Formats: sequence, structure tokens, C-alpha cells
Amino acid sequence: MPDRVRVGIIGSRFEAEIHAIAFQKIPHVAEVVAVASPTPGHAEAFARRFGIPRFYTDYRKMLEDKDIDMVTICAPNYLHAQMTVDAAQSGKHVVCEKPLCMNLEEADRMIEACRENRVFLFYAEELCFTPKYVRAKELVDEGALGKVYLVKQSEKHFGPHSDWFWDVERSGGGVLMDMGCHGIEFARFILGKPKVKSVYAHLGTYVHREKTRGDDEAVTIVEFENDAYAVIENSWAKRGGMDDRAEIYGEGGVTYAVLHMGISLVTYSEYGYGYAVEKAPTTKGWTFTVYEEIWNYGFPQEMEHFARCVLGLEQPKETGEDGKAVLEILCAAYASAGEGRKITFPFEARGVRKPIDLWLRGL
Ligand SMILES: NC(=O)c1ccc[n+]([C@@H]2O[C@H](COP(=O)([O-])OP(=O)(O)OC[C@H]3O[C@@H](n4cnc5c(N)ncnc54)[C@H](O)[C@@H]3O)[C@@H](O)[C@H]2O)c1
Repeated sequence: MPDRVRVGIIGSRFEAEIHAIAFQKIPHVAEVVAVASPTPGHAEAFARRFGIPRFYTDYRKMLEDKDIDMVTICAPNYLHAQMTVDAAQSGKHVVCEKPLCMNLEEADRMIEACRENRVFLFYAEELCFTPKYVRAKELVDEGALGKVYLVKQSEKHFGPHSDWFWDVERSGGGVLMDMGCHGIEFARFILGKPKVKSVYAHLGTYVHREKTRGDDEAVTIVEFENDAYAVIENSWAKRGGMDDRAEIYGEGGVTYAVLHMGISLVTYSEYGYGYAVEKAPTTKGWTFTVYEEIWNYGFPQEMEHFARCVLGLEQPKETGEDGKAVLEILCAAYASAGEGRKITFPFEARGVRKPIDLWLRGL
């Protein structure tokens, strides 16, 4: 094992850029040595932009590269499982973006392939590494809030940037699948990953009916066995750019964390400027101007943790099992909205091709 983890990125667009920038901030533990994307010219342009030495149009060719220790998967959700299995069989550690995959059978295949080939399967949930949210977790662990009984988390914007997110065959679901997975894992993280007792969800497609069969509004209530519950709110219908916030309530205290808006500059501009907050369509008028967004979101910290695990310096905090636990809750939430009732655990969502089927068949 070299003293720095050699990384190959699969994908060359939105999340791949975030990973490339995150790795640039942690050169002491990792370096990106290759990128793969099938879109003609994209991998090459990406490699040139980030000073990455090798690029491929077929990720399987990249997996033959002996000088890669770990790959990060930044491709559409329906490709995560096969890519993970292929990477594991090539002896590479895997960082898989959220949501883990399309169904529980895929999750099991991914976990098993990584176990058999003795490589790590890391679940890339950056909210567990977001500095403000990590500080909140420290408060909880220190007992500052007393016994925590409620965790609220919400992520909202006006909808994603790429076509495949809107196509439930490739994404597996709408906003609940896309962003509810963040809030669910955040709640598990804050509460110490307790078992689930029940899940209840309300879903709807209120604004983007012409564009998708997926949900663009979601409220999910997860009841846990340690006498606590979570309320997770997500929207692809909210105007005005990205909003990401959390509230944690204990019998002895409360803490509120607002990510983008809470750490941004509040700017007014007649003329507009380059970039305000993610998914904001305009920078004219009043805007929230983010800075150090990737650090404030915890991506470099997350990748540093994964690299240090590969180097044998830390134990994984977010794994394939965590991604699978989130997927189980997502399936239960879609089933709850489909059947119009609370779903109690254990809940077996076997034989389901994608979580949203459990909702759509109830409509
Ligand atoms: N953690 C986060 O906050 C976060 C944010 C955005 C996206 N994501 C996740 O990252 C993943 C990618 O999303 P995105 O926003 O980057 O999508 P995107 O559409 O911007 O990029 C998708 C990339 O996948 C590549 N791709 C498609 N088919 C491929 C194949 N066969 N082999 C290799 N590459 C292939 C495309 O060329 C493109 O570069 C998704 O799973 C998404 O949920 C996570």
C-alpha cells in the first residue's frame, strides 16, 4: 500500500467534480489518478481541468489499472450496484454515492462482493461529516441536550440538474429517494443508529407532474426503538436555491443548524454574479452567497476519513450496511404512502425493483 490512496473517479459531472475538489484538499492522504466517463470528451476534459493523469471512456478499463486503490462512484443510481461489484472484483475499495442502489437484493450483492474481495464498501453520506452537523452530534454525545427525542432534517430545492433523476427507472424514486436518504442517515447518525420501529410518509407530485412520475414533496416520520423519532422533509418544488437544515430536540435542550443560509453572505445585486447557492436560478436581487461550500458540506472530511480507513488509520463510520439500512427505510416510506398507513418493522421489501414502485402501485 502506498502512503497515499490512489483514487479513480467514475463519472465526470456534478458529484464527480465535488469529489475531485474534495481530494485536492487532502493531498496528504489521497490523490486522484484516473477518471472514467462514457460521454465523448468528458473524461479527458475533466482530467485536464483537475490535473488527473489518466482518463477512460469505459470504467471497466479503468478498473484494470493496477495503480488504483479506491474508486468513487458518481454515476446515476441504477448503475451503482454493477459498478460496485465490478470494482470489488478488481480489488478496489469502493466509495458509493447515495442512495446506495435501487433495491435490497442489489445492496446485498454489493456488500457480499466487497466482503468476498476484502475491500471496503464506503457509503458516501456527507451529512455525517458536515462540520456544523458533526458539532451538533458532539453536543448530543456530551449530553448537552439531555435525552434526544426528535431529530428534524430537511433538504429542499427546485429539482435536480440531470434528466436521469426525473426518470424513476434510472433514479428509483423522486425527492424522497434523492434527498430523503440524507435526512434518514443524518437521523440515524445523531441517534446512534438505533433500530427502526415504524415509518410513515406523505408523498406527492405537486409542481413537476409534466416532468416526472416521481414525488417532488415528501415528509417522512421514522420512529426508533430508543424512544426517539425523526421528521424528514424534502422538496424538489421549493424555489430560491438549496436549503439544508436540522433541528435536534432533547428533554434538556435544543439546537438548530442551518447550512447554506446560515453560513452564507447575504447579498443584494442588480447585476448578478457567478454563483450564489446550489440550484439557485438567478444571482440578481437578494441571494445567499456561499463560500467554501465543499468544505462546509464535509466532502473533504468524508473523503479523508475513507482514505484513512484504506490506510489502516481509522475504522469505517459509513458502510454498505448503513446504505442498506437507509434503503430499507426509503422502501418503507414509499410503501407507507402507497398504502396510506404506518409501516411497522421488521419490513421486508424483497422482490421490489425500485422503491418508488411501492408508492406508484398504490396510486
Ligand atoms: N452526496 C451528494 O450530496 C450528492 C449530490 C449530487 C449527486 N449525488 C449522487 O451522485 C451520483 C451522480 O449524480 P450527479 O449529480 O453527479 O449526476 P450527473 O448527471 O451530473 O453525472 C452523472 C455522471 O455519470 C456518468 N455516467 C453515466 N453512465 C456511466 C457509465 N456507464 N460509466 C461511467 N460513468 C457513467 C455520466 O457520464 C456523468 O458524468 C448519483 O447517485 C447522485 O445521487 C450525491
